[in-house]
Amino acid sequence: MPPVPKMPSSRNQPKNPKGQATSRMDRILIEGGVPLHGELAISGSKNAVLPLMVAALLSEEKLVLRGTPRLADTRTLAQVLEGLGATVEEFGNGPGEGVSVQAAKLTSTRAPYELVSKMRASFWVIGPLLARAGQAQVSLPGGCAIGTRPVDLYLKGLEALGADIDVSGGYVNAAAPHGLTGGRIDLPFVSVGATHVLMMAAALAKGETLITNAATEPEVVDVGHCLQAMGAQIDGLGTRTLHIRGVARLGGADHQVIRDRIEAGAFALAVAASGGKATLTGIGAADIGALASSLRLAGVDLAETGTQGLQICAPDGRPKATHITTEAYPGFATDLQAPFMGLMCCAEGVSRIRETIFENRFMHVQELARLGADISLEGDTAIVTGVEKLHAAPVMATDLRASVTLVIAGLMAEGVTEINRVYHLDRGYERIEEKLSACGARIWRERI
Ligand code: EPZ
Repeated sequence: MPPVPKMPSSRNQPKNPKGQATSRMDRILIEGGVPLHGELAISGSKNAVLPLMVAALLSEEKLVLRGTPRLADTRTLAQVLEGLGATVEEFGNGPGEGVSVQAAKLTSTRAPYELVSKMRASFWVIGPLLARAGQAQVSLPGGCAIGTRPVDLYLKGLEALGADIDVSGGYVNAAAPHGLTGGRIDLPFVSVGATHVLMMAAALAKGETLITNAATEPEVVDVGHCLQAMGAQIDGLGTRTLHIRGVARLGGADHQVIRDRIEAGAFALAVAASGGKATLTGIGAADIGALASSLRLAGVDLAETGTQGLQICAPDGRPKATHITTEAYPGFATDLQAPFMGLMCCAEGVSRIRETIFENRFMHVQELARLGADISLEGDTAIVTGVEKLHAAPVMATDLRASVTLVIAGLMAEGVTEINRVYHLDRGYERIEEKLSACGARIWRERI
């Protein structure tokens, strides 16, 4: 008889930020049908903190980031930064918590495949490494499988700043031995990551840089504000044209990270889907932008509650079918397309959900169908015919935003929905079971 395989000891399993063991095989179970009531605290923005941590590489001084979320993605990035010589330290608990990153000396300019393949944002170190050290060897990125996600805009932009780029063996080798020089970069379309990287690189380049068609997402503006606090000369944040005058060095800073508008959007949808009434704290209707208008069209009531936050109240009956099209900011965020589809599964009528940013961001459709959703795909559009009820089934999280969509669907479904591969969820949502169960959700994790 073959030997019985030994179960891995929990001591060897990776830990989540609160010290609990997590595993790629963990699953989440949700018993649907319970309306959410209470308060949901919104964490710091994942998509702001990741580029902010990268920006710390631009300076030898310490960058202190406050109000940061503790996520699998921030830990992955911390490993990448530590590999380059930075010291990354988490501090505090609850609202006072944060992370400091200090790259007093860059001991390496190589970001390896093993780490970069886990998360696309780790590729972004290429900008600061080139600007500060004059060279970088960075693996081509991985991340959520939601499209081909090339890096051509980054490479052309860095070339416009004087870098020599060679791609071979799965790595981008970039060199600017005499430093980067300012230039004009006309981005053919909006890219959040390319804007982050080129803004960071230009901040330390010699001379002036003009970036047109820049991203205006709040996370880009937040990074820009932090760079300004470090001494960067950037004009035009929040507009499509950035004008950057390079400086010889950047200092440290103490920066409060913005709240996560994507987490807030997902929670607003969860409250609406559950038929409940709850307040998202630390965020207002303007922060969730285009989603706020779409929610109102769907019959969801949104009310600002002074300094406290945003109260979400589900419609009396089923939500109304509402069409959306994803666009760069200030349009409807692609990161909320899947969660919005979750709500629309039980809407009255037919909604058309069009994805224009990523070409393969409909992997959640087949999983929603397992719960009884009626969705067909026509090119870049999903046609969702609302059903009265979803029914629990085992499902699989396929990417970060698809995973929270299954949580939303699970809150609506009759019976106990079992969501597998929740490591995707842990990449971007801090303590999600804790937050939702505090509002009455019957949700729990099975550690495997
Ligand atoms: C950021 O990804 C976010 N990630 C994504 O969130 C978000 O969906 C996306 O912006 C759009 O808002 C982080 O902030 C960490 P892009 P990014 O460059 O920067 C194409 C999540 O779930 N493109 O704006 O990678 C690209 O393929 C994640 O939190 C090129 O063709 O997105 C896409 O179709 C997923 N060439 C489009 O541009 C390039 O060189 C926009 O992507 C770069 C991008």
